[in-house]
Amino acid sequence: MLIRNAVDKGLASRNLDVAVYYSVLIVVVAVLNGLFSFAGRILLVAASQHAVYRLRVEAFDSILRQGLEFFNKTMTGQLISRITNDAERITGFLSFRLRMLVYSAFLIAVSLYYMARMNMLLTLIASLTILAAVSINYAYARRIRPVYDRIRHQTGVLASIASGTLAGIRTVKALTAEEYAYQNFDEENAKLFGLSVRASRINAVYGNSPFLVIGMAMSAMLYYGGRAILHGTLTVGELVAFLTYMLTLMWPLRALGFILGDVQRSLAAATRLFEIIDAAPQPAEGEVELGDIRGEVEARDVWFTYDTGKTALRGVSLHVRPGEKVVIIGPPGSGKSTLLKVIAGLYRPERGEVLIDGIPVEKIKRSSLRRIIAYVPQEPFIFDRSIRDNIALWDPRVSEEDIVRAAKIARIHDTITRLPKGYDTIVGERGVTLSGGQRQRIAIARALARNPRILLLDDPVSNLDAETEEALVRDLREALRGRTAIIVSQRPSLARIADRVVYLVDGKIEWEGPPSGLLEKAVNIKEPGRGRSR
Ligand SMILES: Nc1ncnc2c1ncn2[C@@H]1O[C@H](COP(=O)(O)OP(=O)(O)O)[C@@H](O)[C@H]1O
Ligand SMILES: [Mg+2]
Repeated sequence: MLIRNAVDKGLASRNLDVAVYYSVLIVVVAVLNGLFSFAGRILLVAASQHAVYRLRVEAFDSILRQGLEFFNKTMTGQLISRITNDAERITGFLSFRLRMLVYSAFLIAVSLYYMARMNMLLTLIASLTILAAVSINYAYARRIRPVYDRIRHQTGVLASIASGTLAGIRTVKALTAEEYAYQNFDEENAKLFGLSVRASRINAVYGNSPFLVIGMAMSAMLYYGGRAILHGTLTVGELVAFLTYMLTLMWPLRALGFILGDVQRSLAAATRLFEIIDAAPQPAEGEVELGDIRGEVEARDVWFTYDTGKTALRGVSLHVRPGEKVVIIGPPGSGKSTLLKVIAGLYRPERGEVLIDGIPVEKIKRSSLRRIIAYVPQEPFIFDRSIRDNIALWDPRVSEEDIVRAAKIARIHDTITRLPKGYDTIVGERGVTLSGGQRQRIAIARALARNPRILLLDDPVSNLDAETEEALVRDLREALRGRTAIIVSQRPSLARIADRVVYLVDGKIEWEGPPSGLLEKAVNIKEPGRGRSR
């Protein structure tokens, strides 16, 4: 409008003052427009960032509440991609695209209104152009979208493979499976490459066609507009205004098509995030709050099958009296670790049940359970944090005294105090590297520091030298006084702690008896020929 008046009233009549007046007005309007869109952007971005912040927190919280089965099923890389990328896409939509959508639609509507007031034929051309450009962009977005989605998914797969391979690098190396790991990665990487090529092809086809359409429309306008000027039905200023409108609309048109195509993508991202948030925590939270317990553990005819179809436990029944120390032995793969996880409430038995003081584990409140039972896995996880944090695990109830006492029993205190920063030393990937035995001992300290009534230790002394093993077992004997303990270990040294030995073979208890049996059985296990015979 302003441009038309500037041209018609100012330039056409050679009245400079009027032209300057309108020029200044144009600048003022442009500045105001900028200010408003700036303020709007800040508000929207802040609101959408906050919304996505909440989404992310909720999704992560929900993931943390999932049972272990969930993580066996879902690749970690995929989860990470969902929390980061999907949330990002939603922010992008809320803060940027939504604003663009409203802005573009508004701009197009206003432009069309003013065009219609000037010349109907040209407005018709403009409308058709707008329709064509938006449709092309929409089609473009719809074709490229699934390709981009698959690229994103494939990137997640690659990340999963890479992090999985590196996390299990010891296993990979031990099995000399580098070649296989490489091939696996290479295959998936080739898929990603193919997808990227497909995306560039679509981009090449569609990328510039909207400009072509608008270019053609402008030629048509010049032709018909020129004729209209000759006939006196259109002023030069009006034609200039029309062309300016088309140029101004070029970008909103492009945006509009894309945004329409994006609505569905963002909805899909939101759906995936909400799927995670709504996924019911898998062993659902129990209600029973346990205070002081006696520490009785009973497994009743427990069966457990992994997702792979592998049945790891076939009807295990084990009754551990309060304060009793049971050592579980058995050949590799016999289900010892699985049994501990089921007892710890990490896996839910497929059949049968686990009772703590006569109460089914799944009925016990999670926080209660964690306080009562401490479980030390075979390969404990050490966080990239200080040793203190790794032992206390940010539990305010664990005092400095608890930490040191536990570290002493776990035979790691001396090692820690010899480090330059003592308990504040950062360990893990970005800090001091720990040996397998040291990691294990930190994990044992972590368990003991909580003063649990029941301790489940998965092969606690496997990575220790004979001397440390001897000392640890001696202290453990003291530390376990009055506590119930179930310990997986083939080590004869454990016989000094054990009240009873349970021999597990192929998911079933094959034999149980006094600790003196540990020596003889453990020796048998090392010689498979004899170990598996009755
Ligand atoms: N996360 C898992 N997914 C599928 N199968 C598993 C998993 N963990 C263990 N298994 C299988 O279950 C069986 C018992 O494993 P486990 O309890 O670790 O035995 P152990 O601790 O006695 O060596 C083995 O055959 C093992 O391959
Ligand atoms: Mg094991």
